[in-house]
Amino acid sequence: MRESTGEAVGKIILMGEHAVVYNMPAIALPFPQAKIITRVYEKRGPVKIMSDLYKGDLLGAPDRLSGLTILISKVMMDFNQPLMDLSIEFKSEIPPERGMGSSAAVAASVVRALFAYFQQPLSEAILLSYVDFAEKINHGNPSGLDARITVLEQPLMFIKGRGFTSINLNLNGYLIAADTGIKGKTKEAVAHVQNRLAKQPDDFYDIKRIGMLVNLALTTIEQQELDQLGALMNENHTLLKTLGVSHPLLDEFCQVALDHGAIGAKLTGGGMGGVMIALAKNLITAKNIASALKQAGAAKIWIHQLED
Ligand code: PMV
Repeated sequence: MRESTGEAVGKIILMGEHAVVYNMPAIALPFPQAKIITRVYEKRGPVKIMSDLYKGDLLGAPDRLSGLTILISKVMMDFNQPLMDLSIEFKSEIPPERGMGSSAAVAASVVRALFAYFQQPLSEAILLSYVDFAEKINHGNPSGLDARITVLEQPLMFIKGRGFTSINLNLNGYLIAADTGIKGKTKEAVAHVQNRLAKQPDDFYDIKRIGMLVNLALTTIEQQELDQLGALMNENHTLLKTLGVSHPLLDEFCQVALDHGAIGAKLTGGGMGGVMIALAKNLITAKNIASALKQAGAAKIWIHQLED
């Protein structure tokens, strides 16, 4: 049977979410512990999708999957292929709608799988344009950060409209990521910040301050100053909370992590639910933080070593 697969990784925003929408810098890293694998194989009949969220004909998929279904239709159209005789199966370890880049990773993995299936060469630039296309449908006005991380698979400093610089995140520390189990609301959170800025233009100070924190973080990363990086993450979280995109459980998890030895903690991604991250100096502390977060009710916890 003719078949092919495509993989893509999730991402974690270390600092700068939301401010990045307003052309401030953000730092993000690929998160290979959370991956998605897409398998495309020959099957008679209309194109079918098999995922945790939906199983059935591509054309009958619910609206919330429209980024994905329109993307698949576009790739097939670009290959002059009818929407027939394929089944597309998704196996994801990236929890959806948690700010871990699931939608961009789904898009990247399906484009990789389809290009492999039709034996077409796929450049980074073409892949990026397809993932950006799908992300615009998913999120309305995405900064493009998720797309770049999942396509390039390296830590990046990103400024919307100006592009990205690869950064060396080879720090002697650990990131703990914990899922609140509550769906993040990226689109709503982005709109919330936009409305707030329209009503209270002074809040733009918070956006600029986040941009400044990210620039300071780049220096601390370069100089391997983990404590300072942690302090910057804490301040970044406070500002995101002020902007109204946190959630009581995210705040509680941040406090639990700090109480158990984290040197910094913040929400990551769009917020209003989703995932938080904490920074720890060594594996023992990271494991303590992880078990405290588990006790506090985290739905899933990952420990990620920053050193290569
Ligand atoms: O929730 P996520 O992983 O899609 O991240 C959103 C990050 C924002 O800065 C809030 C929005 C964006 O487009 O960058």
